[in-house]
Amino acid sequence: MKQIVILASGSGSNAENIITYFKEKPLATVSAVLSNKHTAKVLDRCDRLEVPAFYFNKIAFTKSDAVVEALKSLQPDLIVLAGFLWKIPSNIIEAFPNKIINIHPALLPKYGGKGMYGAKVHQAVKENGETETGITIHYVNEHYDEGAIIFQSKTAVEPSDNPDSIAEKVHQLEYEHFPKVIEKLLI
Ligand code: GRF
Repeated sequence: MKQIVILASGSGSNAENIITYFKEKPLATVSAVLSNKHTAKVLDRCDRLEVPAFYFNKIAFTKSDAVVEALKSLQPDLIVLAGFLWKIPSNIIEAFPNKIINIHPALLPKYGGKGMYGAKVHQAVKENGETETGITIHYVNEHYDEGAIIFQSKTAVEPSDNPDSIAEKVHQLEYEHFPKVIEKLLI
């Protein structure tokens, strides 16, 4: 059984979707979720879904080997960032080459980089009058949103769309594709 470890900072609806998807599959399981926010809703989801979850602070993440050692002990086949907002430090990147992936709620290289997350992405897409947006699943390197692209999927942006409706369309793409892309990477 392959081991997936998820890092998430917020609501965790993608984390829940991935956990649920792999509960039905013999291929892999989400063995743990790690969060940098102790009030993150993803931690409540893990309670309900009976998945081990851990909180860590910025010192553990960036100024020590605490998180990298915790990750190593979990022996993940894939580390999945699902709405995780901190930049991954080089000690973690180096410990897990080609084993860390992220999902970004836009068509990179557009609308990526520091500060481009959550509603800000969808607001920028709307303000620029884009006619399409989508999702990008990519490997993680030391720079925000710049690792090699694994998968993209598009959706139309209609004139009647607002940032909330764009976010909803993008979330639907994420729920549909993210678990399947993870599955393909693990086969
Ligand atoms: C998603 O839109 C994802 O693309 C982005 O952060 C959001 C997380 O949403 N990186 P949720 O916490 O999974 O609901």
